[in-house]
Amino acid sequence: ERELYFAMRYSLFAGGKRLRPALFFAALEAFGRERTPFLPFAAALEMIHTYSLIHDDLPAMDDDDLRRGQPTCHVRYGEALAILAGDALLTHAFALMLQPMAGAAPADQMAAAREVAWQAGIGGMVAGQAAEIVSLQSEVDEGLLTYIYQGKTSALFAAAVVSAAHLCGAAQEEIAALREYAKHLGLGFQIIDDVLDVEGDTAKLGKPVGSDEARELSTFVTLYG
Ligand code: IPE
Ligand code: IPE
Ligand code: MG
Ligand code: MG
Repeated sequence: ERELYFAMRYSLFAGGKRLRPALFFAALEAFGRERTPFLPFAAALEMIHTYSLIHDDLPAMDDDDLRRGQPTCHVRYGEALAILAGDALLTHAFALMLQPMAGAAPADQMAAAREVAWQAGIGGMVAGQAAEIVSLQSEVDEGLLTYIYQGKTSALFAAAVVSAAHLCGAAQEEIAALREYAKHLGLGFQIIDDVLDVEGDTAKLGKPVGSDEARELSTFVTLYG
């Protein structure tokens, strides 16, 4: 279906920073491995991230109309096709992660894909997004906010570095260290994202500023200034 492909490509190639694939490559490098055999895996991580943004911007969620400097997927293609483009990016990511991959033992590749599934879903990103929605009407303290951020942002960072570690057959302590690294990097990244939503520049960010305030969202800015 041409329209579905157009909508998927539209968001995927709109010009994101490619941070999660970059983290994945950095972790591969730390284990002394080439990135080439694992390019499909890196692309899969970016597809999952892009799907999360398409759905995050939907009217039922953050209701934003600008992303990566372009009208959001639902503004350009309509809500139904944007939902489906997100669904298709998520499912295609698994097709890529599970394709035969020279350079990884099948058991390691399974562990890597399983890690991504957990971190992208109920063990991480979707859980964090849901916790944010559910707590919109209530008091949010630092503990809850940290939980939300570790879900919505740290989890995909963890998916990137821990999956790379699994593909390289890393030891448990190495995996634990990378998990911890991703947790803190994600928290810091999301706090900066909060600050930029207040004092950033739409032209540079490629997404609207003031979106959190408009939704009366609790953030580190509302909590601490
Ligand atoms: C945006 O992520 C969503 C957050 C977790 C804050 P990025 O800032 O990495 O977005 P792109 O990929 O560069 O568009
Ligand atoms: C987006 O968080 C995180 C995910 C899509 C998982 P935000 O809603 O805070 O990020 P932006 O500001 O829209 O990029
Ligand atoms: Mg959001
Ligand atoms: Mg948002």
